[in-house]
Amino acid sequence: MERFKLGFIGAGFISQFQATALQGLRDADLVGVYAPEGAEALSAFSKKIGVGECTVYNSIEDVCNASDAVAVFAPNYVRIEVFQAIADAVKKGASLKGIICEKPLGRTVAEAQQLLDLARSMECPTAYFENQIHMKAIQNSLAQLGPQQRTMGPIALARSAEEHAGPHMPWFWDPTRQGGGVLSDMGCHSIAVGWYVLTPLGKDPMFLEPVAVSADVGLLKWGTPEGRNKLLERTGVDYYKTPAEDFATGMVTFRNPETGQHVKAQFTNSWMYDKQGLRLLMDGLGPGYAFEINTLMSPLQVFIGDEAAEAVADAETALEKATATRGLLTVQPNEADLYGYVSELADAVQSFREGRDALLTFDYGLEITRLCQAAYMSAEEGRTIDLTDAATRSKLDTYTSLIAQGRGAETLRVG
Ligand SMILES: NC(=O)c1ccc[n+]([C@@H]2O[C@H](COP(=O)([O-])OP(=O)(O)OC[C@H]3O[C@@H](n4cnc5c(N)ncnc54)[C@H](O)[C@@H]3O)[C@@H](O)[C@H]2O)c1
Repeated sequence: MERFKLGFIGAGFISQFQATALQGLRDADLVGVYAPEGAEALSAFSKKIGVGECTVYNSIEDVCNASDAVAVFAPNYVRIEVFQAIADAVKKGASLKGIICEKPLGRTVAEAQQLLDLARSMECPTAYFENQIHMKAIQNSLAQLGPQQRTMGPIALARSAEEHAGPHMPWFWDPTRQGGGVLSDMGCHSIAVGWYVLTPLGKDPMFLEPVAVSADVGLLKWGTPEGRNKLLERTGVDYYKTPAEDFATGMVTFRNPETGQHVKAQFTNSWMYDKQGLRLLMDGLGPGYAFEINTLMSPLQVFIGDEAAEAVADAETALEKATATRGLLTVQPNEADLYGYVSELADAVQSFREGRDALLTFDYGLEITRLCQAAYMSAEEGRTIDLTDAATRSKLDTYTSLIAQGRGAETLRVG
């Protein structure tokens, strides 16, 4: 079998994680990268860990010409221009077998729709990257509880949380470039995994119909004078002028179109989780059965006491978004696999080889964007958003939250 050639667009945090995940695939190589910053470092890293020669290219067109599929790992605010460049390359003759886009598909429903339209114009299979659905812990929980689902009925309540102390790069904090705060950045993960967990076994990820969304957001840590000053100093983003939420929680209600049953996905996200590092918490409750996942429960812990002079060698290779380098530390030996990156890459490569879409398509990515934006609208307007109402859906099609417009001060009560 010929090796599958992957090209990356973007060479930052997630590109490095995905390159690491490629170690878990037997049939694909990282053949090239284009990025204004970090490309040389990613190429060197790729060679060092043995996942591909990773040539540094000077344009998106060149990466497309060298690859079987390209993965867009660039920031949210350049999605449209990047996809336009891919579409131009395809028009000029690049023969791509697939296109991957990291979450979120768009910062608004209109942007996600534009991306979907561009992808459709290329007539190319797609993979929307939502890693948490591919987590082996999620997939195994659902597989193990298959008999219970079949005899007792599907899961009726899913609760999902992703929390850490805040993103690395300044652009994530800037709501006008990122698309909002933690709800835009991580709410998309938790809403997606909740929807998936509730979906009866064997059904399409979009089988359950979203009917209502309610949400609340807050600026709880990074809105205090100390928090705002620290953020300004660290990132250059001024939460006195353009604040975004660092906490979001809410509920999405879905309807089973075959049985009429309503089921619920509760989500919670924060950038104010000052514990060891990133924590994913998911559970699912069905009639008479349940599962629970907590990614901070690692079988590996290390301890470094005050007397031991040196801190841990590299806190971020111990645990994503680690906040401490000594004391009792949680270490995850294989985060790329734990968080589902290996499985989502394997799914994309196999699907593209077979000439079809991956498990999660850009159409699915658009629906996730719609749910996130409905959550912003709910928090902003203080009401439950009825997704079965045609007028509300059409309002969502052109909606940009006040926070994403840089007008968060009008809606976030920070004092
Ligand atoms: N699934 C996850 O858990 C997860 C985690 C982190 C980031 N992400 C997503 O991945 C994307 C990238 O995030 P990141 O943390 O790697 O960001 P980053 O800032 O660390 O890296 C961004 C990279 O894109 C490059 N870039 C900037 N403008 C570009 C352009 N016009 N064309 C091509 N490349 C460009 C930068 O030079 C840099 O190499 C975001 O959409 C983010 O939401 C997903």
